[in-house]
Amino acid sequence: MDGTTAGYDATRARWAADNEAYWMAAAAGLDWHRPPSRAFFPDQGSYGLWFADGWLNTCHNALDRHVLAGRGADTALIYDSPVTATQARYTYAELLARVEKLAGALAARGVGKGDRVIIYMPMLPEALMAMLACARLGAVHSVVFGGFASAELAARIDDAQPVAVITASCGIEGARVVHYKPLLDAALDIAAHKPAFTLLLQRPQEQAAMGPRDVDFETALATATPHPCVPVEATHPLYILYTSGTTGKPKGIVRENGGHAVALHHSIPMIYGLSPGDVMWSASDVGWVVGHSYIVYAPLLAGCTTLIYEGKPVGTPDAGAFWRVCAEHQVKLLFTAPTAIRAIKKEDPKGALLAQYDLSRLEALFLAGERCDPDTAQWAETLLARPVIDHWWQTETGWPITGAFRGLGLFPARLGSGGKASPGFDVVAVDEAGHELPPGTMGTLAIKLPMPPGCLNTLWQAPERFREAYLEHYPGYYDTSDAGMVDEDGYVWVMGRTDDIINVAGHRLSTGQMEEVLSGHPDIAECAVIGVADALKGQAPLGLVVLKAGVNKPNETVTAELVARVREHIGPVAAFREARVVARLPKTRSGKILRQTLRKIADREEYAVPPTIDDPAILDEIKAVLGC
Ligand code: COA
Ligand code: AMP
Repeated sequence: MDGTTAGYDATRARWAADNEAYWMAAAAGLDWHRPPSRAFFPDQGSYGLWFADGWLNTCHNALDRHVLAGRGADTALIYDSPVTATQARYTYAELLARVEKLAGALAARGVGKGDRVIIYMPMLPEALMAMLACARLGAVHSVVFGGFASAELAARIDDAQPVAVITASCGIEGARVVHYKPLLDAALDIAAHKPAFTLLLQRPQEQAAMGPRDVDFETALATATPHPCVPVEATHPLYILYTSGTTGKPKGIVRENGGHAVALHHSIPMIYGLSPGDVMWSASDVGWVVGHSYIVYAPLLAGCTTLIYEGKPVGTPDAGAFWRVCAEHQVKLLFTAPTAIRAIKKEDPKGALLAQYDLSRLEALFLAGERCDPDTAQWAETLLARPVIDHWWQTETGWPITGAFRGLGLFPARLGSGGKASPGFDVVAVDEAGHELPPGTMGTLAIKLPMPPGCLNTLWQAPERFREAYLEHYPGYYDTSDAGMVDEDGYVWVMGRTDDIINVAGHRLSTGQMEEVLSGHPDIAECAVIGVADALKGQAPLGLVVLKAGVNKPNETVTAELVARVREHIGPVAAFREARVVARLPKTRSGKILRQTLRKIADREEYAVPPTIDDPAILDEIKAVLGC
């Protein structure tokens, strides 16, 4: 690492000069059942397809390949669960043996290539095994985050139409036991589609009642015959990951096997500067894209050791939890959301707990998932005395759009910027008409087509929605729906979303979806949900509601009812805790609510410190505009 941009500039120039050769060289790092004849097929798919005539298996590349190369005894996975006081380690050979059997158990019950399987599990090694077992069979997994309510799970079941669901009896959220099985049963009651069976992992903390469609996970594994890898086309879907869109219906991001494996394998040395055997810990959840890419697939494709952590950054047992894990498991690189660091900073501002651990193996902290406030980045950099690297990406892209590239020299960060575009991504800021803006000018961030390997090419069962949402606003570009700019030196600055998405504790949520839920309350005439600044979670949702004529309830009662309603319909992850009854909402002449105006008030730049949800100033502002 020389700290200059020379390595990055050379690699980017190599990519820009010959996109085809660049990605073919990257593809050569993997095993192919049938190697692709070329990298890009411009006439196929929505904007071209990657490696379209190649065949491979992602699980083979993540596990078998390393065992065949003699690395079977190396550690593939560490499980650390302070909430259950459990730890476990799996070598590549042990992990492969479990995955082969799990694939066999699924295949014996009829799961095959192209079938969908929903995985609804807490942070357990079995969640990762389930994903890899599906990949092994060419089945398409869809992991649903545990913080969603049954209704959300049901919506995903109806959209993906899975043949099976893999779940666990419970999860542990601090002191709360999350009853996964009853939540799943309720979802299956709501859903029109009925999967053929459920594979249920019974945890010692809670035994779930078995129904007629339920198969015990461990029994199925014990009696299964190991299943070999099924080669699939590079364009065959590996997974569907649902993410928030602007409406209540989530978008099913489809990830293809070939481009995904190539991009992720390539990203580990280039972006993160890691080699086989290094321990990478992504403190996220397998239900999010960071978990898919950097807990499961990328570290294993690259032959690293990955870590599954079941717990929180604070309170399990204290704000030293992350540093304990880093020290104990010799973590070389930690990747998390700024929210987690803010939570630690709040509890241990002077780093007294951090000082108790030997972090000599830790080389860098990577942040993503939401905008990182400079204070938090600086605090972490000062205390850790190591690079803190912010990088920008989306569920849609599957890997970082920008970074500082530890493997290419690690150029200096600019506080508040996500770094420079990864080779493969051509990022520009555009105006409303889709014209590229000069450096340093704010606009919508867009990516020139084609997107590199690994990015989405369609939405599950919704190709039209894909085109409308991403390709039609700015022909020739992918619309990121993030506002920002690219400066004279190529640093990308991401300022916030241009749509109704908010980012709460690094979790992507739709205010439109919350509005749909609030509107369903019998007393609500109309409503708007906006994101306001929150000192810990970055943003928090605030509901502004107009009651129907004749309804006379105090604000506290309305809030309590709406909070319960959002929890029931979307789930605790929405973190909806505040509502305000207002006399009216600002509207256009045609009667549309001026959500942008409300949002602008919440984002007012003259606040030196952004107003928080508890700050009466924001509510006074809103009331002033609303005249109430
Ligand atoms: N299963 C069930 N419930 C879950 C859940 C899960 N997997 N994850 C979160 N929840 C629940 C929480 O228990 C909480 O419930 P509550 O309202 O009963 O307290 C609610 O959803 C909101 O969760 P969250 O917003 O995460 O708040 P928190 O107080 O539980 O934790 C942080 C705050 C900062 C510690 C936590 O958000 C965090 O670690 N964030 C990092 C984010 C991250 O990893 N992002 C991924 C992108 S890199
Ligand atoms: P998700 O799809 O959940 O990964 O959320 C993607 C969104 O999170 C992006 O569109 C951004 O709005 C935001 N985001 C992710 N990483 C960053 C970052 N490093 N800086 C600023 N915003 C980010």
